[in-house]
Amino acid sequence: MIWPYPRLVAHRGGGILAPENTLLAIDTGWQLGYRAAEIDAALTRDEIPVLLHDDTLERTTNGRGRLDEVNADHVAGLDAGSWLDARFAAARVPTLDAALQRCSEQGIWLNVEIKPVPGHEVRTGELVARAVAQFWSRAPFPGRHDSQATPPPLLSSFSPDALVAARLAAPGLRLGVLFTEVPSDWQAVLRRLGAFSLHCDHHHLSAQVAHAIRAAGYGLLCYTVNDPARARELLDWGVDAICTDRIDLIKPDADLQVPAPRVPFTGT
Ligand code: G3P
Ligand code: MG
Repeated sequence: MIWPYPRLVAHRGGGILAPENTLLAIDTGWQLGYRAAEIDAALTRDEIPVLLHDDTLERTTNGRGRLDEVNADHVAGLDAGSWLDARFAAARVPTLDAALQRCSEQGIWLNVEIKPVPGHEVRTGELVARAVAQFWSRAPFPGRHDSQATPPPLLSSFSPDALVAARLAAPGLRLGVLFTEVPSDWQAVLRRLGAFSLHCDHHHLSAQVAHAIRAAGYGLLCYTVNDPARARELLDWGVDAICTDRIDLIKPDADLQVPAPRVPFTGT
């Protein structure tokens, strides 16, 4: 299996340099040469996919409560940047559609992590996958003639239920299974879910397990790798991609940037 995506991925859009999971984060990664981003997607009460990591609003916005207790129009008005720095006060929680649009315009490949608020695993998998597939089926994208050169997003999740629902909703999209620590039955899990790749915390990965995953024909992405020497080590082990907060320290170069072979998308 040849990894058809960039090998460096900006965690939560733009790592630590901008408010996580915002369009500003995606823009910041792009400015530093990143052409891939990981984002977290969850559902509001009225079932609109938006970018948010936590189940609740407090940490990264000036809102309160659970995401599944508020509608998208309320979320859209929240300040999603001041928690990091007052100069980011204009940052907002984007819809998944807005993030897909921005990334298609900029040629940024996306790893969309399906991040269900507990109790909404199936519906989140279904609606996130559907939103991605529907967006990707629309062509041409306004203002960008070569957007098809960026491969379709890869969906990932810690939730098997979300992945099963995503597969049913959008069978044309590739799936990654997220683990903190790679379990001994990883191969059975990936096979059962029809996954393309395995994503894991690099702290728990050995070179031996990395080789086994690659030898079995799966892609391998590690998070969250913030030390450049460790990033190099993992890539030398054969890890396909690393997801990082330190987009200022780990710099994309020609070897790690998009080879971007065209990946046909067959629709939903
Ligand atoms: O997808 C990799 C990574 O984002 C998983 O952890 O908690 O940062 O979403 P978390
Ligand atoms: Mg994530």
